[in-house]
Amino acid sequence: MTPSKYIKELASKREQVETGGGEKRTSKQHSKGKWTARERLTYLLDPGSFIEIQPFLTERKSSNDLESLNGDGVVGGFGKIAGKAVYVYAQDFTVLGGSLGEMHGKKIATILDLAGKNRLPIIGLIDSGGARIQEGVSSLDGYGQIFYRNVLYSGVIPQISVIMGPSAGGAVYSPALTDIVIMVEKISQMFVTGPKVMQEITGEQITAEELGGSFIHSQKSGNAHLTKPTEWEALDAVKELLLFLPEQNQQKTKPLPISEENHERPKLLELVPSDSKTAYDVRRIVEQIVDADSFMEIQDKFAKNIVVGFARVHGIAIGLVCNQPKYKAGGLDIDASDKAARFIRFCDCFHVPLITLEDVTGFLPGVKQEHEGIIRHGAKIAYAYAEATVPKITVILRKAYGGAFVALNSKSLGADVVYAWPQAEIAVMGPEGAVSVLNSDEIKKSQNPENTREEKIVAYREKHANPYKAAALGMIDDVIFPEKTRIKLIQALEMMYNKQVERPEKKHGNMPL
Ligand code: HXC
Repeated sequence: MTPSKYIKELASKREQVETGGGEKRTSKQHSKGKWTARERLTYLLDPGSFIEIQPFLTERKSSNDLESLNGDGVVGGFGKIAGKAVYVYAQDFTVLGGSLGEMHGKKIATILDLAGKNRLPIIGLIDSGGARIQEGVSSLDGYGQIFYRNVLYSGVIPQISVIMGPSAGGAVYSPALTDIVIMVEKISQMFVTGPKVMQEITGEQITAEELGGSFIHSQKSGNAHLTKPTEWEALDAVKELLLFLPEQNQQKTKPLPISEENHERPKLLELVPSDSKTAYDVRRIVEQIVDADSFMEIQDKFAKNIVVGFARVHGIAIGLVCNQPKYKAGGLDIDASDKAARFIRFCDCFHVPLITLEDVTGFLPGVKQEHEGIIRHGAKIAYAYAEATVPKITVILRKAYGGAFVALNSKSLGADVVYAWPQAEIAVMGPEGAVSVLNSDEIKKSQNPENTREEKIVAYREKHANPYKAAALGMIDDVIFPEKTRIKLIQALEMMYNKQVERPEKKHGNMPL
């Protein structure tokens, strides 16, 4: 039987839609080292799983004189990643630079609603010149529809944005409202105001890469959570990330099957130097306590004085927040506070238990920090921990002083389990600072001030800077053998697997921002 003219027409229209912006623009896209929207979706999704919605959507013909725009510059729908259902959309740069017109915005909003109603993660692949200039204010309305839904479903379903080209003007704010932003090195740039307009208005001359390349957003602004050298590695990162997250906020991530093993880690005894001023890399500790190769660090180049990321402990997905003594002695500053607080809240949204590894003398001192608002930013950490209802575990590796001891998931702030290693120093402040306040007169008057100072420091350390006073007062639950840390964490996670917390009803809290 020969296909009817209707079937032929459908096949031909479908073929046409799939050409995107046509051969010339597709070659141009490839020549920049970029895939097309459909190629990206093919790589991301399980073979044969993509169900496209609204492929024939295009701009209102009456509103302008544009050529017919295939899919209105965005391809999207439902698919699966390693068998997990997701909603996706990919902006098609070959169609008017992936710019967002009325229908383009409407399609993304429809997909977001489907993801929200069906409680499934949403992944957006961004490659866009921003608001479609020819469509005027309709484009702005499209952005508003998207932002509204990003916020509506925030904390309900995981939202991931991968920037795979320019993300200019309005195109930056949807990613910024999602949970995770991934950038591709030398291919993606994000800016509210592009270089040309900037030069016009402020006179500043800068390239797009210098203004908003992955280097800037991963190291300086903190807008990007992950950067990858290639498009496929960025898409692989999405696949990896989804392994740590449930489909939605009413589920927990299923633990992965694990084999029996000896959980003792004798190496932990050597990794933290006994001199409390000597630096070390906390990621070496992380490697010893989490399942092999399971650590996925987030924002590894931004605010390096704190390390955050996902991992698995005995198959259970967890979020880690660790002071990093290798940078700024692990001190908490404005950027570290923002980074930690945001990650804690992300984990809490999706039932990912939190493990905190603590070794810090406190918030970073300095006029610049004070004047730029360390009080407000530092308060975010305390807020995020106190607000979180997931299982919360802290291990104090070495120093835990003052405000940092309280803010970094202390018992008084709602931690479920706090352990300390035997060399832990838990006190109001470090010995040097304390002695300078308590004994300054005595030291000044002494015949040998340096000796007296040293004696006072030793006496303070013995009396106050150890874990036993805090253990006696129930501020920590136990002093543990370092080599047994992993087994202690597994037990704590098992102990709290069904944790439930009732909180007073409220509209929402007023987090310091
Ligand atoms: C319509 C656009 C467009 C846009 C690009 N194009 N941006 N069409 N509206 N915003 C079209 C181009 O005309 C071109 O069409 C094709 O997309 C590819 O663009 P090129 O410039 O050739 O590509 P490239 O050299 O790679 O440069 C990409 C770019 C540049 C850096 C994104 O196009 C650019 O600067 N665009 C404008 C960025 C911008 O200022 N956006 C802000 C908009 S205002 P042809 O037909 O030749 O293929 C905004 C405010 C919203 O977004 C606020 C909401 C809250």
